[in-house]
Amino acid sequence: MTFLAKRSIIKEDRSNIITLGAIAKEEKKKDPTVTNATIGMLYDEEGKLFAFKSVDKALNGLSLDEKYAYASTPGSKEFHEAVKSWVFREYYDLMKDNSKVMATPGGTGALSNTFANYLNEGDKALLPNYMWGNYKQCLYENNQSFDTYELFDNDGNFNILSLEEKMLESKKNQGRVLFVINDPCHNPTGYTMKDSEWDKVIDLMNEISADGTPVILLHDMAYIDYAKSGFEKTRFNISKYQKLNDNCLVVMAFSGSKTLALYGVRIGAQLAYSNNKEALEDFAKANKFSSRSKWSNPTNLGMNICIKALTDKEYKKSFEDELKEASKTLIERANIFLEEAKKVNLKTLPFECGFFITIPCLNPNLVYEKLVKKKVHIIPMGNVVRVTISAISKEECKKLPKLIKEAME
Ligand SMILES: Cc1ncc(COP(=O)(O)O)c(C=O)c1O
Repeated sequence: MTFLAKRSIIKEDRSNIITLGAIAKEEKKKDPTVTNATIGMLYDEEGKLFAFKSVDKALNGLSLDEKYAYASTPGSKEFHEAVKSWVFREYYDLMKDNSKVMATPGGTGALSNTFANYLNEGDKALLPNYMWGNYKQCLYENNQSFDTYELFDNDGNFNILSLEEKMLESKKNQGRVLFVINDPCHNPTGYTMKDSEWDKVIDLMNEISADGTPVILLHDMAYIDYAKSGFEKTRFNISKYQKLNDNCLVVMAFSGSKTLALYGVRIGAQLAYSNNKEALEDFAKANKFSSRSKWSNPTNLGMNICIKALTDKEYKKSFEDELKEASKTLIERANIFLEEAKKVNLKTLPFECGFFITIPCLNPNLVYEKLVKKKVHIIPMGNVVRVTISAISKEECKKLPKLIKEAME
């Protein structure tokens, strides 16, 4: 007998990442020579969790009220403007009036709210075939499902034709299209779309929605501030949303976990952009309702840290400098890993930057088990293994490719 409701019987968190991450953490506690390349957090070269000094200082400067009082359901005006100004940067004046923000618990809250309010029950979201697996659980929780588009074409570029085919199918079958792009520093591959690929996505959205079909882009920008191309390029791509027609809506999922390394504080935001004012009013109404029903209100602590670190002159400059330094470290680790991978002929999926490097693999679980015996923990998923370079040192990046190659043979 089960007390669970019908839809809940099959619920089981299948996230390898959390489960295997916990095992790796335990192993490393017992033996510091273990390599833990599992969970998507940033660690320094000494293996300590990386925290931005400016963010920590901002937290320590908060009043009791700023830390512990209840917040309003959508979050404060100051937080909304902080997110807009951080994400839009030099395009803030141009884009602020066509956008609205909803504070959420991490990027996950932003993703979950967006699926809930822009797909009907039984509808499918379009996800890239390589993806952060929790999208699927968010969809199931909302009585929705998914289909996938191929992320890469044969040349390892963004597969716009596959996306187009799936968007047309969604349009035909459900009269609306909601698709997810996780860019830059895609999880798990590290792929980052080129300017011209973003142009094609914008054109496609305008084409498919030209007859009035609602087209919603859920832009998961969790790793936006770690792009190798820097702030200017990522914001230039965001500025292209100004070219969308009135039948398009973009909801960006901002993650305080990644941008500010505030993983456990659980702060993030939905940042909606549309050239259709009614769509923005609807966004504010429906997402406020969802937030109130699921978590009631966001963390005041998280919002106020963000406001200080992202807008206050005292903290912002040093935060940006620290962020650039952290991105530089990630790039150095990636370069070392890729150089060694080349030496041992270990192929990776197209990588540009970010927290992860992914290796196509016929038997990921077996490779995982063999590596654990050598005190190395990575994540097996589908037909790949994922290595979290944000969590390991340069020295470990140098050693790993050969060990992975051996485990695959
Ligand atoms: C691609 C991607 N999106 C969203 C998230 C959500 O992160 P959070 O809810 O901590 O902001 C993660 C976390 O690992 C992620 O990798």
